[in-house]
Amino acid sequence: MSDIAVDVYLSQDHMAQSLRADVLDGLLAMPKTLPPKWFYDARGSELFERITELPEYYPTRSERRILADHSPEIAELTRAVSLVELGSGSSEKTRLLLDALCTTGLRQFVPMDVSATALREAAAAIARDYPGLAVHGVVGDFTEHLDRLPGQRPRLAAFLGGTIGNLVPSERAKFLSALRSVLYEGEWLLLGTDLVKNPEVLVRAYDDSAGVTAEFNKNVLAVLNRELDADFDVSAFEHVALWDAETEWIEMRLRATRAMRVRLAALDLDISFDLGEELRTEVSAKFTRPGVTAELAAAGFELTGWFTDPAGRFAVTLARAAG
Ligand code: SAH
Ligand code: TRP
Repeated sequence: MSDIAVDVYLSQDHMAQSLRADVLDGLLAMPKTLPPKWFYDARGSELFERITELPEYYPTRSERRILADHSPEIAELTRAVSLVELGSGSSEKTRLLLDALCTTGLRQFVPMDVSATALREAAAAIARDYPGLAVHGVVGDFTEHLDRLPGQRPRLAAFLGGTIGNLVPSERAKFLSALRSVLYEGEWLLLGTDLVKNPEVLVRAYDDSAGVTAEFNKNVLAVLNRELDADFDVSAFEHVALWDAETEWIEMRLRATRAMRVRLAALDLDISFDLGEELRTEVSAKFTRPGVTAELAAAGFELTGWFTDPAGRFAVTLARAAG
């Protein structure tokens, strides 16, 4: 018998309300933007899984290698009883952590994701494959619902995949402080961050030759068409990924290939795009060790371990909630 529970903090209603607010804010802004969490409907989560398998998208493989090499050490150091995973997606790599932590007293796994489909699938698969483990999934937003997370102490909160880079610096500071405030002194954070490197390598990872990332990026328009009764001509936008050396992030945009008007019937809103106008859909910040250390320290975490893959592409940081 598998032991599984799922709490849902994102009702259809809540999602609909926050999508409307985000879209109103973002599409009326100059330049136009959309927040990244709306990529991840069922199709978006599926496309992301395909991204993780692309030859150009090294972050998943690099992070998997780090977890394969260092999970036993992470388990020994933390002796976590609950593993909480934020933005858990498929929780595939997380199995490496679970394998190690199960030998040092782990009893509970708490995956949290905005994508209900991805979360339910992952929770069921983990519960099936780890019969002794209690799985308590949470459909929620890690920028909103950290205070609702269950878990037995000491907890290890894992935030993998470089997803923290999808927040801009002020959002990161807010997120890390909020996470610190729900943890007790001595509990743990395991943070995956992609590292600054040759811009060509970075851009390729976000603009693959098979066009999967382009399809993923455009999927957000399909989400608006469905959820807000909008009429975006998805094929009239092209995917753009560029490296911004100043902010040290990859920026993902959708560029209008013709001038057009778009109606969002559910918002009773018409917006226009000029030829070549770009909508910013996502940033993916890249990090350095001093940068990660400083951001963690500012939020009340002290760095305990810094693990990288042999090629030095990606880092996983173990940090302790300081007093
Ligand atoms: N951790 C996985 C997935 C990374 S993709 C990995 O390393 O491969 C980012 C994940 O974060 C997606 O599953 C997405 O649905 C989720 N996500 C994005 N914004 C979120 C938010 N605000 N709250 C909770 N989950 C979010
Ligand atoms: N967190 C992942 C990253 O920044 C998500 C991601 C990968 C992504 N490829 C993307 C997000 C393309 C938007 C567009 O690496």
